[in-house]
Amino acid sequence: MWQPPQRIAFKAAPGRIPTREEAAGSRLFSPLNHGPVQLTSRTWVPAMVPWRADPDGNVTQAVVDWYARLAEGQPGCIVIEATGIRDVPSGPLLRVGHDRYVDGLRRVVDAIHRHSEGKTRAYIQLIDFLGVKRRPEREKYLERFLIISEAHRAALGMEGASDEAVRLHLLTLDDASLEQLLSPRQWEALQKGARERVTDTELPHIRKLPGVLPELFANAARRSRDAGFDGVELHYAHAYTMASFLSPTNTRDDGYGGGRFERLRLPLEVFRAVRDAVGADYPVGCRMLAEECIEGGSGLDDAVFFALGFARAGMDFLSFSRGGKFDDAKQPKVGEAVYPYTGVSGYECMPSYLSDDKGPFGRNLAATAALRRALREEGLATPVVAAGGIHNFDQAEAALAEGVADIIGSARQSLADPGWWKKLREGRGAEVRQCEYKNYCEGLDQKHKDVTCQLWDRVALDEPGLARSRDGKRRLVAPADW
Ligand SMILES: Cc1cc2nc3c(=O)[nH]c(=O)nc-3n(C[C@H](O)[C@H](O)[C@H](O)COP(=O)(O)O)c2cc1C
Ligand code: SF4
Repeated sequence: MWQPPQRIAFKAAPGRIPTREEAAGSRLFSPLNHGPVQLTSRTWVPAMVPWRADPDGNVTQAVVDWYARLAEGQPGCIVIEATGIRDVPSGPLLRVGHDRYVDGLRRVVDAIHRHSEGKTRAYIQLIDFLGVKRRPEREKYLERFLIISEAHRAALGMEGASDEAVRLHLLTLDDASLEQLLSPRQWEALQKGARERVTDTELPHIRKLPGVLPELFANAARRSRDAGFDGVELHYAHAYTMASFLSPTNTRDDGYGGGRFERLRLPLEVFRAVRDAVGADYPVGCRMLAEECIEGGSGLDDAVFFALGFARAGMDFLSFSRGGKFDDAKQPKVGEAVYPYTGVSGYECMPSYLSDDKGPFGRNLAATAALRRALREEGLATPVVAAGGIHNFDQAEAALAEGVADIIGSARQSLADPGWWKKLREGRGAEVRQCEYKNYCEGLDQKHKDVTCQLWDRVALDEPGLARSRDGKRRLVAPADW
């Protein structure tokens, strides 16, 4: 992952530890009642993919165990990981693209409700994403994948030559000459792996996205409701299809790209279709970017425009993240796929302990506060979720008191110590294990390995009947007495 050049080391601290009475009277542990969004407290575990599904995207016992363990902390809401809305192979990523997934997902909901003693709502994050290929070997790309065109022949002075002859010639070129000869997209496909964009409207399946996505999301939302989820979160953030529609990099000329209004159009159409499918009394919100944090990407102005649009359309909550884009991601190794959390925007999304003078804790709070203010100035009471480096009671309570957000999200701190919310609530804050923000978990996510935490994954490995990671070396959930 990219790190700020200053490399100033920050350490998460417990801050002031509330007594049980203080916690009981706090904003953080007060309920939130906003239309269909009914939470027992303002604590929230944002979506995190732990790579526990089976290769067909089904819920496994490991998925159930993961969420059961998080539910023991009794947060107000757990948003389960980005779950694919299509019925297409997507590795060990959970899917909700067909009715056959409903029964498995119901097990997750039941586990969250049961292990939280009914205190935690289970929401699900619904995602669509476009094709990303692994970075190919140079020879393989030039010999097999590259489509040879007349432009290549002309540039090489090889008019009339066979494809094979052109390929053989290309193999003799150095990188500088090859870069000049290939189109920017071909060069990118060679350097990083081919990646589809919402602007590839010459491809029929990309052109048709506005025609198919509303129904795909709506069906996925209906199935989620049928599985018992208490709400859905539309994934409009980071590197994926819907965020790409919102981005200024979306220059589609079919009425779904270009200006802000056009870029907002499909996300609104998706939301309306979802709303029609699940009804007015069912919580539907989205996760979106406060800032894209890439050159030419959307900033706060755009985000305010989109957030107002979503709130006016009737979304029940808005959760703000930042960055996490493919555009500035590092070149992957040969055989690996580009990962959208390796560049500057990736750092903004999941900042690590080595930082600049802004530090990794609460980097998205100022932008989130501005977004919430803009909503309130327009008379919109939509609850706002803040996240990013929040790891103690003081921080969380201050963000609520200062009107930054209505709900506090904590992803990695909840992974480090799944019971931490309950410990705080019970006046046992001194027992909280603090996340170190060294992003070991994120490194596992990048490789699609079982995500675990370095604080606990080698602890008590001799526990009888312990479920282990696919490499056999790590436990899959934090110990019970952790
Ligand atoms: C292992 C891992 C998986 C993640 N998966 C998702 C995801 O599926 N959807 C999403 O919106 N964000 C995802 N995130 C980002 C987190 O939800 C969160 O925004 C980010 O980690 C910053 O919050 P934190 O500092 O509290 O961890 C993931 C983060 C981690 C560490
Ligand atoms: S591995 Fe654990 S301690 Fe490290 S950043 Fe992830 S959650 Fe925090």
